[in-house]
Amino acid sequence: MLNPNFDPFPILTTERLILRRFTFADAPRLFELRKDPVIMQYIGRPLAKTLDDAIDLIKVINDLLSGNNGITWCITLKNEQEFIGSIGFWRIEKENYRAEIGYLLNPAYQGMGIMQEAVETIINYGFGPMNLHSIQANVSPGNAASIKLLQKNNFTQEAYFKENCFYNGAFRDTIVYTLLTKN
Ligand SMILES: CC(C)(COP(=O)(O)OP(=O)(O)OC[C@H]1O[C@@H](n2cnc3c(N)ncnc32)[C@H](O)[C@@H]1OP(=O)(O)O)[C@@H](O)C(=O)NCCC(=O)NCCS
Repeated sequence: MLNPNFDPFPILTTERLILRRFTFADAPRLFELRKDPVIMQYIGRPLAKTLDDAIDLIKVINDLLSGNNGITWCITLKNEQEFIGSIGFWRIEKENYRAEIGYLLNPAYQGMGIMQEAVETIINYGFGPMNLHSIQANVSPGNAASIKLLQKNNFTQEAYFKENCFYNGAFRDTIVYTLLTKN
């Protein structure tokens, strides 16, 4: 059985980024993204309606973290403290050494290779210190940016579920991408 330990919190650095722990001070910027229907169109979660919804999300992130049941990093640019996005293994199947990856980036910073840096860094963490065997990503077929990102990181398509997800009044398809550890 996988036995992840996120204490102390693993702060990760890349060429341009610091991936750190969320604090409640990140709530207003997180709220700006989570309330935006365009940014959230492929996330499949309810839109945040108030700042409290973002605060509640950070509470969930912290609860998952303290139980070693999930880990989400706040993405910041080096030399700046502010949230620009999030990335993490928000669902962990400990018995299968498997986790589901998720990510979200402020559009002002998209298309600059930022998430590529973050994804490759947490893949290394997942298959390294965290000891995962596989990483799953559930993606909407219309999410070209996310699909490109996954393919670039050697994820392969394993399943295509038709209309398995009811979101925003419609049944939607899901593609499951997976990456296995090389070990
Ligand atoms: C998916 C997302 C995180 C990508 O972040 P990003 O920092 O813009 O991605 P990158 O700049 O690292 O790009 C990675 C690759 O995807 C490509 N890409 C980026 N946006 C794209 C788009 N809209 N269409 C097609 N390809 C795209 C890039 O060109 C790059 O490939 P390349 O290096 O071969 O050129 C970002 O679009 C996002 O936050 N979307 C909203 C939230 C979301 O949908 N999350 C995923 C849910 S599964």
